[in-house]
Amino acid sequence: MITSVVGLQFGDEGKGKVVDFLAGRHDVVVKYNGGRNAGHTVVTKAGTFKFHLIPSGSLRAKEIILANGMTIDPMFLVEEIENAKKANPHIRIFVSKLAHVVTEIHTYLDTAEEAARGKMKIGTTAKGIGPAYEDKYGRTGVRMEDLLSPELLKEKLSLIVKMKDSLLRESKYGVPAEIDRIVLELSATGKKVAEFLCDTEQLLNDRYRSGDSILFEGSHGAMLDVDFGMYPYVTSSNTISGAISASTGFPARKLQKIVGVVKSYTSRVGDGPFPTEIHGDMASTLRDLGREYGTTTGRPRRVGWLDLQLVKYAVMINDVDTIALTSVDTLGKLDTVRVATGYYRNGKEVAGIVRHLGDLDGIEVRYREFKPWGALEDSQISDIVENGQDSMPASMREFIDFVQERCGRPVEFVSLGNLREKTLILGSLAKIGA
Ligand code: IMO
Ligand code: MG
Repeated sequence: MITSVVGLQFGDEGKGKVVDFLAGRHDVVVKYNGGRNAGHTVVTKAGTFKFHLIPSGSLRAKEIILANGMTIDPMFLVEEIENAKKANPHIRIFVSKLAHVVTEIHTYLDTAEEAARGKMKIGTTAKGIGPAYEDKYGRTGVRMEDLLSPELLKEKLSLIVKMKDSLLRESKYGVPAEIDRIVLELSATGKKVAEFLCDTEQLLNDRYRSGDSILFEGSHGAMLDVDFGMYPYVTSSNTISGAISASTGFPARKLQKIVGVVKSYTSRVGDGPFPTEIHGDMASTLRDLGREYGTTTGRPRRVGWLDLQLVKYAVMINDVDTIALTSVDTLGKLDTVRVATGYYRNGKEVAGIVRHLGDLDGIEVRYREFKPWGALEDSQISDIVENGQDSMPASMREFIDFVQERCGRPVEFVSLGNLREKTLILGSLAKIGA
């Protein structure tokens, strides 16, 4: 099976748990976009594992690939590879020679650009991802293979400093000796990662031809896609399933199943429009119940109701086959359970999504309410996991049915807690790799 997992909201939908499950049922796990701005958590009985650059499938995967579409901070990569090997000693790791490198200059630029934006700031993770993609598309970027050529590296870094003069002039990077230092450090790191570098597009196509199953792990979410998200409050890569081919060299036509991950409510880190955002005590309660603090930055996440208008759009642009619904247990603990069903202006329904902050003026979001299903006992969760929907509280079943009906896709993964075991798997997802 050739499967992909994508987020359908603003990131942090719980993709880590879904990928962890599917990784055990595929031969190869591939990460293809973003970099250490992503943050996924997998909770097992052995402990909690946090992943940024390497796939969250790394606990169970036999082989992982970091493909060309990524932007990689090599020093951080070395650290994460060490951790992955501790958790999964037999794992095989491959990194694309063509993936772009995030240097400390990019990280500095991320913060400097945010400061320059002033009130138009995006609220980035400050990990240098945006500036590294700027250099990629500006054709001044450093690629992983360049780490093995100190002279080329120096030329490229000097060019970047020259091009970004207005932001770097006053910084230490305006001093040539600093470039020499960075070249030395990056070259040393290059030697450590050299054994992992290869033509991952070739490897991936070879694996496909020899019959291996492949899982593509998406980072971020549809509303952070640089084209279709709420621009400019987005990340700097394409996050939708259509990005897979360009970001890996794997043929688009070969993708067989697309799993869209939806959290039962919405969260968002950073600035930008959020039509179903909630504030005050209810928001604090939800934030604490859902532990909605960034995996990458520790920032408290903004929270709000599930927005089906937005999810329906994400289902369309990703061509989602099946939905993984997460944090169903958390939502049920609130005193009120709401789901946004559509946007209205002057009593008339507004089609599509609201992308721009100003467009939110005069928008009324309509909701459907569900009876809260309360905190679930462990025994109740085990009962649901074993016996399926019939063991669910009636209002939880109604909620899930409503999501399926509105999105026109089946819900085949229901997460009822952070632990791997607290998951109901249904339909075609239960059959994958079984
Ligand atoms: P995962 O993979 C949530 C957000 C940032 C910011 C915007 C741009 O864990 O779901 P960037 O540093 O990418 O230039 O920041 O995108 N953002 C995420 N929010 N989860 C993520 O990834 C995110 N990756 C980026 O908060 O608003
Ligand atoms: Mg995350």
